[in-house]
Amino acid sequence: MNQIIPIKESIFWIGTNDHETHLFESIWPLPRGVSYNSYIIVDEKTALIDTVKNSTSMTYLDKLEKVLNGKSLDYLIINHMEPDHSGTIKILTELYPNLKIIGNTKTADFLKNFYAIVDNFQVVEDQSVLDLGKHKLQFHFTPMVHWPETMMTYETTNKILFAGDAFGGFGSLNAGIFDDEVDLEFFEDEILRYFSNIVGKYSSMVQKAIAKLSGLDIKIIAATHGPVWRTNPGNIIDMYDRWSRHEAEEGVVVVFASMYGNTERMMESVAQGLTGENVRRIRIHNAATTHPSYMIRDIWRFKAVVLGSPTYNLKLFPPVEYLLQMLENEMLKNRILGIFGTFGWSGGGVKAIREFAERVKWDLIEPVVEAKCSPTEEDLNQCFTMGQNILKKLKQSF
Ligand code: FEO
Repeated sequence: MNQIIPIKESIFWIGTNDHETHLFESIWPLPRGVSYNSYIIVDEKTALIDTVKNSTSMTYLDKLEKVLNGKSLDYLIINHMEPDHSGTIKILTELYPNLKIIGNTKTADFLKNFYAIVDNFQVVEDQSVLDLGKHKLQFHFTPMVHWPETMMTYETTNKILFAGDAFGGFGSLNAGIFDDEVDLEFFEDEILRYFSNIVGKYSSMVQKAIAKLSGLDIKIIAATHGPVWRTNPGNIIDMYDRWSRHEAEEGVVVVFASMYGNTERMMESVAQGLTGENVRRIRIHNAATTHPSYMIRDIWRFKAVVLGSPTYNLKLFPPVEYLLQMLENEMLKNRILGIFGTFGWSGGGVKAIREFAERVKWDLIEPVVEAKCSPTEEDLNQCFTMGQNILKKLKQSF
């Protein structure tokens, strides 16, 4: 997208959309693309807030030049140094040699180590203010949302919070950039996927940031990814607040894998047990064919999780093992868990899920069902019972 979009008078979105990158951070799928949001304030002094991934820099630099219209570029504010936002800094320093770069001491460290940039850097303190003329920018340090250097920039005249990764999401901004222009149902799903995949591990730091920002009068939230929230910024703050408290909605996620159909038959009995209490939001994922990104998103959304796996070489089936590694790394709390699985000559799969449950301290619902080779009628009945017990527990939670 080559558009330059006014956010407020003298403040413009000049971000880029990326449909070429298939995997964000080389891990997370981007079927609907992603935006790298960068903003510029044109005042007595000009200030750019964050840049874009280097693969989209040509479009970006063209827009920047048009907005500047012959003016100098005075400041670059770095809210976040991850290369999807810092990737164009090196080129900017060459194109605009007088550019002053603004960040904190941790920003300086990343800048030096990623790009060997040490000159023209101005260290700012938490809560300090940069005066551009009509517009004043106040810096709020919010470490580990998502890296140690992360800060947010608050524009005091229009009360815009340039938030970095916080309040961001996947999905490109090709048809409108504002919350009142885009399909919010789609974006909320992609924002949760982004939150759970990228930021969720740092939930406690998100909570600290939200508490720290609670005294600010915020009219617009402009994150580095996803829509700009000008109509209802409280909406995105509420979402990030709930998700970072690990609050869940009523629903069940069943993740299974099956090599020859036997573990799948157990999943079907569990799923049958999940009917009858008017809980309609049941999501069933085959771990062998579904990217963990989507399973993590649903597990973050819903209260109950059922995990089923064959045993493979005395251990968990690898796609399930990979998912559990990722979930443990994300440190999600307060979930209800059911477990089932199969083995041929020695257990391993179910035992590994039990050990996972103990480490993450999820609430294990009985019975845990483990079948030898293929499930018996009794095994299938037990799976059905486990599904019913999950529902009962779920209903008690809401
Ligand atoms: Fe969008 Fe943590 O970078």
